[in-house]
Order: sequence, then structure tokens, then C-alpha cells
Amino acid sequence: MPLSIVILAAGQGTRMKSSRPKVLHELAGKPLLQHTVDASRALDPGQIIVVVGHAAAEVRAAMDGQDLQFVEQREQLGTGHALQQCQDVIEPGNDVLVLVGDVPLIRSQTLTAMRDGIGDAAVCVLSFLPEDPHGYGRLLRAENGDVTAIVEQKDTDAESERVGECNSGIMMIRGDLLRDLLAGIGNSNAQGEYYLTDVVGLAAGRGDRVTALACDEPGEVSGVNDQYQLAAVEGLYRARRAGALMRQGVKLYDPERIDVRGSLEVGSDVEIDVNCVFEGEVTLGDRVRVGANCVIRNTRIGAESDIRPMTSIEDAEIGRGVTIGPFARIRPGTELADGVRIGNFVETKQAQIGAGSKVNHLSYIGDTEMGSGVNIGAGTITCNYDGANKFRTVIEDGVFIGSDTQLVAPVRVARGATIGAGSTITRDAPAEKLTLSRAKQVTIDSWSKPKKKGK
Ligand code: UD1
Ligand code: CA
Repeated sequence: MPLSIVILAAGQGTRMKSSRPKVLHELAGKPLLQHTVDASRALDPGQIIVVVGHAAAEVRAAMDGQDLQFVEQREQLGTGHALQQCQDVIEPGNDVLVLVGDVPLIRSQTLTAMRDGIGDAAVCVLSFLPEDPHGYGRLLRAENGDVTAIVEQKDTDAESERVGECNSGIMMIRGDLLRDLLAGIGNSNAQGEYYLTDVVGLAAGRGDRVTALACDEPGEVSGVNDQYQLAAVEGLYRARRAGALMRQGVKLYDPERIDVRGSLEVGSDVEIDVNCVFEGEVTLGDRVRVGANCVIRNTRIGAESDIRPMTSIEDAEIGRGVTIGPFARIRPGTELADGVRIGNFVETKQAQIGAGSKVNHLSYIGDTEMGSGVNIGAGTITCNYDGANKFRTVIEDGVFIGSDTQLVAPVRVARGATIGAGSTITRDAPAEKLTLSRAKQVTIDSWSKPKKKGK
């Protein structure tokens, strides 16, 4: 049976104390709602419908271009009312899996288990056993284990108050029963809301089976209502990612101090020291070592490379056996060939640096094509920008650039050339020759030290 997924995301999220709608707050660098959408995708559903209400335009804009259908719930009259708004958009007959936009750790394998396990039941609820059930809807079960009703916190009596098994908010409803069940939902309850959870009692009342799948993965159905819960969920997410890396054989110096906010592919014997952040798509080859406090985004790093502490790398391609840092900034468009060495306080941008070349100290290399075996002295700057346009610097194989040199682009330093320290190079420098541009050193014999004026 084809599947429609509906994600409820119309609520305001007042307790976040933020002007941003709750479902757009970020977990691991992407909106909460995006996590739910990504988990949904894995089931290959026929459609994904997002119910928006509060800040609807902002939520839609943030989720644009992802083949989602949006349904606007203008007044938030309850979760049942939210699903009622979708009836004309849901493909007739499709089974419906209802998710919530603020439960981001839900795993696709759990959703798949719900879909595949619904069997002959009309409804399947994802339940869990929180440490403190207060606040959640409680599951009532018959003697045969079937679920007979969900009682919301504000509607509990002494008996239901004692029930520990709670509704996660996630449920699956069989397609052929959807309209009938939704039509039966009223709002005569403590909150005056249309509860989606009423479909459980309604189905059971007409003799249809309701089952529950108990979720035992810690935190998987944790909701985010305030900044504390967001931080807690971030911690669980971090632990999940760190655990996956360690299972692949990565040595993490402290699994509580690593953040993976995208995809991280690793070879064997990779070591990652504390406080590193990986964003976007990052690949680390065999035996790569990443020192403490590095931030690496959208980058491939070849085997045996050593990323020293306090290094930032973004949108770069790094070869094998490369050494970078400490304190280096590798910006977008940097390509470092095998064996390159980039040292402290070096910034590179749109720079192709050939095999074995060294830029060891205090330099800026931008819009540059550098050959192999080049040595760049400390404090060298490629002056790539005239205030309006950018120009390229070409440094051919085997060049030696003396310290504190400015290369004013466009300029080419030909193969094997040496540039004397302290030069400002504005014209091409020929191969294999020494080129320098600096004033002759003079000593002024008549000079004397200035003295303080008398009082
Ligand atoms: C809901 C469940 C409760 C469950 C709990 C788990 C109902 C009636 N109760 O309670 O059994 O234990 O979640 O956290 O479903 N939303 C809309 N439109 C609305 C109301 C809510 O889109 O009119 C969305 C919210 O944005 C949120 C989700 O639905 O993402 C859940 O709403 P919320 O008010 O937080 O439900 P609870 O009262 O916590
Ligand atoms: Ca509520």
C-alpha cells in the first residue's frame, strides 16, 4: 500500500523564546524539520505533506525545492484538526504516517518497522516509556495487549495517570479508515482541542485493532520544546554520530567532544582529537589525524595527512601526506597536492598548490597556481585584489620566494626563480634567476637619537 507521510509543524513553539519558528531551529546544522523530512525520505513515500501554520511562509521558504507539499492550518485547533486539513491532499486510500516536526531523532528504521508491522491493525502508535510520563498522552491497553485509547495528560484520571507507557505523537493510520476516523474527532475535552489521539479510541470502539510499537532507543522520540531540550537532543545526536564512527574504528579522544553535522566518511585508523566539528560532506582517508579544535567542511583529505590543531578547512581538496596547521585557514577552492605543507597563520583561497610545496608561516596565497617543490618564505602575500577585480598569481615549479614578499597579481614567477626577501614583485620574474626589488641599505652617519624636550 502506498504511503503518505504527514509532518505536523504548525505550532508556534513559544517556549523556545525565539522569533524563529521552532521547527527551523537547527540541530547539527540543519533545521529540526529537515531531520524529520530526511528520515521520512528513506521510506520512499508517495508524498510528504508538511502542515504549517505559525510563520507558515518562513517555514515553506526554508524547505523550498524539496518536493514537499504544504498544507496550511490557519488556526491551530489541535493535532487532529491539523490532519483533517490534509484530507483533500492525501492520495485517496494511502496509508498515512503522521510525524511531528519537533521530534528530530526519529530513525527511518523505526518508521519502517511501523509501516511493515501494522498488519491488520487500523492504527499503530509509536509508544515509549519516559522517566516521567507527566505531560504525555497515556496508552490504555486491553488484556490482549491491544490499545484501546490514549488519554491526554489534562484528561487523565487517577488510573490513567499511573500509566507509564506514553504516546510519542507518531502514529500510522490505515488509508481506508482515515476519513471515517478523522470525521469522528470532536473537541469536548479538557483543552477544547481536536486530538489526533482520539482516533485510537474511535478505531477500538468500532472493533478495529490498534497496536503500539514500543520505542526503546533512548531519546529517539524526545521532543524539542525549549533550549534545554534542544541542547539535550544535540547531545544525543552527537553520541549517535560518535558511536557510529567508533564502530568504524575511528579513535576519538573524547566522543563527547566531536560534532558531525553532515556526512563524514572515514578510512581506517583515523584519529580525531577533541572539539572538532565536521560539516557538509567530509572524507578522511586512511590514517588521517585531525588535531584538537579543527573545523572541517566539504573537504576530502587524502591518506596519512596530518591536520594540526586550530585549523579551519572549507571546500578544499587535500592530497595524501599533507600537513596543515596549527592555526591555518584553508578557504574554498584550495587544492593541495600530495606532501604539501601549510604552516601556522597561513591562509589559502582558490589556490592550487603542487606536490611537496611548502608555505610554512604567516602567508596569504589567493587566486594562485603554484607548481611543485616551491618554497614560500614567511610573510609572503599574493596581492590578488585591486579593490575592484581579482587577478591570478602563477608560481612555477621549484621557485623560492624570500620572506616578506608581495606578489602583485597578475604576475608569474617562472620555473626555478628565486625572489629576494622583502621584494614587491609587480612584473613577471624570469626562470632560474634571482629577482628582487628593494631599496639599497644605507646608514645615516649624521643621525642622532631624538631626545626628550626639556620641561
Ligand atoms: C501530543 C500528543 C500526546 C503525546 C505528545 C508527545 C495529541 C493530542 N497529543 O501532545 O499524546 O504524548 O504529543 O510529545 O496529539 N500541531 C499542529 N497543529 C495543531 C497542534 C499541534 O501542527 O493544531 C503540531 C505541533 O507543531 C507539534 C505537534 O503537532 O509539532 C504536537 O503538538 P503539541 O501541542 O506539542 O502536542 P502535545 O500537547 O505535546
Ligand atoms: Ca497541546
